[in-house]
Amino acid sequence: MSQKNYLFSGDFISAQPEPGELSVHENSYAWVRDGILIDITSEKPDTGEDVVEVDCRGKLIIPAFTDIHLHAVQYVTTGLGYDRELLSWLTEYTFPEEARFAEPAYAERVFRDLVRDLWSVGSLHSSVFCSMNADAAIQLTEALAAAGLSAFVGKVNMDRHGGVNLEETTEGSMADTIRFLERMIPFENRGIRPIVTPRFAPSCSKELMRWLGEQVSEKDLPVQSHVNENKEEIEWVRQLFPESGNYLSVYRDYGLLPKQKTVMAHCVYNTEEEVSMMKELDVLAAHCPASNANIASGIMPASQLIDKGIRIGLGSDIGGGNRLFLGFHMALAMKESRLLWVQTDRASRVISFAEAFWMGTAAGGSFFGKTGAFLPGYSFDALVIDDSHLSRYRPLNVCERLQRFIFAGDDRQIEARYLRGERLPDPRAVVK
Ligand code: GUN
Ligand code: FE
Repeated sequence: MSQKNYLFSGDFISAQPEPGELSVHENSYAWVRDGILIDITSEKPDTGEDVVEVDCRGKLIIPAFTDIHLHAVQYVTTGLGYDRELLSWLTEYTFPEEARFAEPAYAERVFRDLVRDLWSVGSLHSSVFCSMNADAAIQLTEALAAAGLSAFVGKVNMDRHGGVNLEETTEGSMADTIRFLERMIPFENRGIRPIVTPRFAPSCSKELMRWLGEQVSEKDLPVQSHVNENKEEIEWVRQLFPESGNYLSVYRDYGLLPKQKTVMAHCVYNTEEEVSMMKELDVLAAHCPASNANIASGIMPASQLIDKGIRIGLGSDIGGGNRLFLGFHMALAMKESRLLWVQTDRASRVISFAEAFWMGTAAGGSFFGKTGAFLPGYSFDALVIDDSHLSRYRPLNVCERLQRFIFAGDDRQIEARYLRGERLPDPRAVVK
């Protein structure tokens, strides 16, 4: 196969792998070979003859977004029950809805729309919870793969406290997990990988947790779950697992915190001990600011976690969160950080715009390998933003244009999406 050689021109802006300043290359060129960024230069490079030029001059080019935590099976109930708190919201709204995904035709319709919308908002990488139903998780995987998106997909494990129609037997959960993992193998080279997904500690028996931990170490699998989201939940975990000492340690005690391969959603009330454990095991925290506000969970102390060296990605947490567009969540992460700061007599510091942008691109992307920043050797996963409407009254600099897009824009400005250097067509136009 011949090498694919592209030269993109435009206004590039991205975060670095570490939180800090944004890196801006105005009116520059990105040379991309076989999906990998060679370099970004202000002068046109000597690429050879076979290069395809992609002219995006005057447009912003940013790294594709990574939605590091969402529930595909809560797309329909997004927005419902936000007068509840976590535990009653789960049993009254979420669990009954997830049981519907045992019906393949229903699952098919919802997943088709969700995948199209992920594409539309530019979340080209995502880490997704499905339901406990292994067939539904495969359906979701097929839909993501057909759209060419990159994702981790989890068949949810829950063998207790689920209620009618949403609880597995322990043996059934194990057998379905094995079946799910086997059926995921052909998708690996299409960018969709399985992730072990105990729903949260209260949903899993100790026997199931132990077994899942064994699968993680035997098969070298990543893990995603929830931790320290809501005070009532935390107290419940303390009663169920008094021997573990704290919530995060429950996962560690069952082998469910593989180093650099774990995403933990929420992290609103982590103790210092838990923060140290996250640092030691390089756990990626999924900040879900919309969900944390909608169901009154609390505010994640994001700046404190960053200052302790924790990587933080952003999760729409559909359906606890109510928007897919990650710009909405970057803006909300900043707003909540600022409210926390002012309400605590300015005791901590606020996160910067660059840090919020880092969360939704470079930090979340780090879970997928070399993506989320524009550095040589990184996968060229990018969005082309036509922001001419947002900056039509007077010229703005590149950094201001990005802020306008994040705070005042949406998917209507996303003109094109590139994954591994290739443009992703609208999934609705792809004939299966
Ligand atoms: N904890 C356990 N399950 C869930 C869920 O579906 N959503 C949220 N926000 N928290 C959870
Ligand atoms: Fe969640």
